[in-house]
Amino acid sequence: MITGGLGFIGSNLAIRLAELGADVTVVDVLWPEHGGNIFNIEPVKERVRINICDIRDKYAMDVLVQDKDYIFHLAGQCSHVLGQADPYPDIDINIHGTAVLLESAKIKAPDATIVFTSTRGVYGSVAKLPVDENAVTNPKGLYELSNLTAERIVNFYGYNHGLKVINLRLSNIYGERSQMIHDKFGVVNWFIRLAMEDKAIKVFGDGKILRDFLYVGDCVDALLKETLDLMGIGGSRFMKTQDERSVLPVANVPTPATPRPLEETERVAETVTQERTGRGGIR
Ligand SMILES: NC(=O)c1ccc[n+]([C@@H]2O[C@H](COP(=O)([O-])OP(=O)(O)OC[C@H]3O[C@@H](n4cnc5c(N)ncnc54)[C@H](O)[C@@H]3O)[C@@H](O)[C@H]2O)c1
Repeated sequence: MITGGLGFIGSNLAIRLAELGADVTVVDVLWPEHGGNIFNIEPVKERVRINICDIRDKYAMDVLVQDKDYIFHLAGQCSHVLGQADPYPDIDINIHGTAVLLESAKIKAPDATIVFTSTRGVYGSVAKLPVDENAVTNPKGLYELSNLTAERIVNFYGYNHGLKVINLRLSNIYGERSQMIHDKFGVVNWFIRLAMEDKAIKVFGDGKILRDFLYVGDCVDALLKETLDLMGIGGSRFMKTQDERSVLPVANVPTPATPRPLEETERVAETVTQERTGRGGIR
């Protein structure tokens, strides 16, 4: 079962699992302005079960988690920018919704392995590179704080109720089936939209901000590998590439026909410039 399974990462995971022959149930409320889209699972729509419902609906979760071996929990409010403007969806969906799902799993699916996709943002600004799981968590935004709280709820159910749980901290995923309606989600996906429309790509500051960019297909590989390798160990793992990259070269990729116009702006979001990521294997 995949919550948020019609969204960007969830749908890529659903397609991969269905192609591997798994019996897949996707659960998604298709929240407007977020990544959910029924078209995302077009290639496997005949092979997966689709439930349009909210993870905060305890009665629906009680039924849906039954008999599931693996529950990938990807549903949530996933924009830092939106979380700063309105904290309640992060608190209500990311924290409360996670608790509802885990409580249902405790009672109705105690043998399931539960994988929660958190964010690298739980580390906030770091004192040293590379970042690893020993770095101190210091979330700077409501979105990141809600994810760290959700991780701890997940771990609570692992430690206290014996559920098999894993938290994986993702960082800047890009690739097919990403939401591109607005610029409040992943930066690379938004740059691709601008490039497709032959529009100028704005880079905040000097473009030397370091980021980890991970292709969604590699993210799905890592989700499956970590789930099989680590199931049941609890705790949190940081999933990243081997190299961090600055934003500028990513923005300045010319198409064969037209060099992309690049604009710089003065505004530098503090949370963006302060974040740095390090090197390491896929985690
Ligand atoms: N995309 C990234 O770069 C990235 C980075 C770090 C962490 N993550 C985490 O990975 C997960 C998936 O992210 P994504 O990029 O695929 O986002 P997405 O918006 O594409 O997918 C999330 C899905 O959850 C659904 N949803 C939201 N609230 C729901 C609710 N109450 N009940 C049921 N469904 C609900 C939405 O409709 C959407 O389809 C999120 O938890 C996000 O925080 C993503």
